[in-house]
Amino acid sequence: MPGDTLKNDLKKVLDEALKSINDIKNISDLEKSRVKFLGKKSLLTSLMKSLSDLSKEDKSKAGKSLNDVKTKINNLLAEKKILLSENSDIHEDDFDLSMPGKASAVGSIHPISKTMDYAIQIFESLKFECVEGPEIEDEFHNFTALNIPESHPARAMHDTFYLANNYLLRTHTSSVQVRAMDEKEPPIRIIAPGKVYRKDSDITHTPMFHQIEGLYIDKDVSFSNLKSIINIFLKSFFEEDNLKIRFRPSYFPFTEPSAEVDIEYIDSKGNKNWLEILGCGMVHPNVLDTANIDSSIYSGYAFGLGVERLAMLKLGITDLRLFYENDLRFLKQFQRI
Ligand code: DAH
Repeated sequence: MPGDTLKNDLKKVLDEALKSINDIKNISDLEKSRVKFLGKKSLLTSLMKSLSDLSKEDKSKAGKSLNDVKTKINNLLAEKKILLSENSDIHEDDFDLSMPGKASAVGSIHPISKTMDYAIQIFESLKFECVEGPEIEDEFHNFTALNIPESHPARAMHDTFYLANNYLLRTHTSSVQVRAMDEKEPPIRIIAPGKVYRKDSDITHTPMFHQIEGLYIDKDVSFSNLKSIINIFLKSFFEEDNLKIRFRPSYFPFTEPSAEVDIEYIDSKGNKNWLEILGCGMVHPNVLDTANIDSSIYSGYAFGLGVERLAMLKLGITDLRLFYENDLRFLKQFQRI
């Protein structure tokens, strides 16, 4: 290998390496450059291999020049590597490969939905058919057909959210009773679960809450049938045969007689208390007549259950608003109920 040719080749390699390493922008290009200039198939390696053909004296001279170039390229690569890692946000040392990965959170069904599903299941086992009605209602289905005529004081009791054109957000699921009586012939045995809306907010009220309406119309339906179904449902729901249940006389325009039902519970201070959880009664003859059901042949009972109240008692929650604050620390406690 004549000395001048080697000198020229080495200069070319070094110039090329200088230029190319200078242009490198990332670690993967740096590695490509290393392979190109110092790898097995590089010009430098093949020049090294050809040294064996030289005389002893030429071999040592040429070998020294080759090694110098190799060292220079190695140094250039090392400097570039430091430069790249200094300019990057991620440093090799920042990685802790032993750190456990972040598991992605799995969502779960809201405790109110679970409570509803559980209650619906019990009613279905008691042969009630589950039906639905619209949340945006008209005054006829929400009030008039339920024996609450215009200007009747009971309309004011409802704190209604009114919409345009006499529409409103239903204040109770009782509106679905009216729709069911329109669509079906007796015997009618339905429940209607869903959201209802009222301008109300404190520890036992939220502007949106859930009810389950029940309606049974047939020949010879009596108040004792109503008491019996409410007792069976509540004892089954709370899985407590000795549950204390109280029927209190009350007033609803769409039932006569009417009652409210309370359940005894022990509060956080250990005191016994009653919580109202539903309204009920015998369907008023005016309601049956408006629905074209002959009130001299048929009678019926109806009830409206507050789902949040049921959930509060079942889960031991004292402030109803917690259900709707979307605080995962609260909601996660009920993932497995
Ligand atoms: N709709 C009533 C309310 O929201 C609850 C209710 C009472 C429903 C008596 C009924 C009933 O079906 O018979 O306060």
